[in-house]
Amino acid sequence: MQNRLTNEQIKAAFDAALVKLDAMIEKHGDKFPSSSSKDGKYASTENRGGWTQCFYTGMLFLAYEYSRNQKYLDAALSHVDSFITRVDEMIGMGDHDIGFNFTLSTVAAYKVTGKEIYKEKAIKAAEVLANRFREKGQFIQLAGEADCADKALYRLIIDCLMNTNLLYWAGSVTGNSEFTRKAFAHFTTTMETVVREDGSTFQNFYFDQATGARLGGGTKQGLNAESCWSRGQSWGVTAIPFTYSYMKNKEIFDKYYTIADYFIDRLPTDKIAYWDLCFTDGGEARDSSANAIAVCGLLEAVKNMPIDEAKKAKYREAAEDMLYALVTDCASFDEPECEGVIKHGTYYYAGGLGIDECCIWGDYFYMEALMRKLNPDWKKYW
Ligand code: GLY
Repeated sequence: MQNRLTNEQIKAAFDAALVKLDAMIEKHGDKFPSSSSKDGKYASTENRGGWTQCFYTGMLFLAYEYSRNQKYLDAALSHVDSFITRVDEMIGMGDHDIGFNFTLSTVAAYKVTGKEIYKEKAIKAAEVLANRFREKGQFIQLAGEADCADKALYRLIIDCLMNTNLLYWAGSVTGNSEFTRKAFAHFTTTMETVVREDGSTFQNFYFDQATGARLGGGTKQGLNAESCWSRGQSWGVTAIPFTYSYMKNKEIFDKYYTIADYFIDRLPTDKIAYWDLCFTDGGEARDSSANAIAVCGLLEAVKNMPIDEAKKAKYREAAEDMLYALVTDCASFDEPECEGVIKHGTYYYAGGLGIDECCIWGDYFYMEALMRKLNPDWKKYW
């Protein structure tokens, strides 16, 4: 028998997530929960750089849209103010994660409130991100300047496909086609470089600084250069349907099938991804955040991409299975001492960071996945 969540169970899961979020509001005040937990506890952090603060504002906006409780909107907007400070004063704006950060803060604030100030600041952030596009190689450089001494920084990573949503959005609201050109050139380069024949992916791809020549792939957060880091793959599973929502690029469908199938076909029987997809059973750490991300992408693909019907059925079923596993095996609602919404995430295994812990983006995508199920008309922030 297939395991399926009822609407009541999904609603109960969202309500339980709100209990965790209420405790975060109480604990962190005007600060932000850290990227990942330590022994189930998030530290309080400032918003001065990094890629994860936006997931907290994203959770607060989702909570507001679900409950219409003003306290969530107030908390979200007061935290968005610190992103405005970041873009106005150019604090922590030196890498591609501007895309994540300003999508789930200023863009979400604009979509939820309609206030022009948020649109203006999001466009300003998009301009900074667009300046990271390198004509030599046709990609968005993850960090550093084009001529930086560390040649390894002249690279893209698969994660950046999610950052480009800010550029597509900016292109759509301003009519400035440069945003879209750069985002889609980056997408095309990424698809041509990081995706292997079997649909697995590299995390990194390196270019020659002088010529833009393609040098080769590798990884930072996966097991090794030839393996497939689970979260990187899930960024691909999700970013492609998000890109399609702007570009209607049907020619990507065949490649999408190989990428999505690779992720789904390498899930263990309990449907919670190991941190690297080279593992399919055994005692290795999991990365529940990869599941939460992939559920959102598969639901988006099924809803908005006119893909093959058999694939649609497969992706719908995989999304249902994974969400069921997240709610029943990863959600922490019966553990009041655990501050995260879902357990069993892994941030950076080789770096010893956040292994089998909660991570704030896992909590966000879990809530987005639940929101997508509860309200199929929900408009994404991406
Ligand atoms: N974008 C960084 C990560 O997924 O860990």
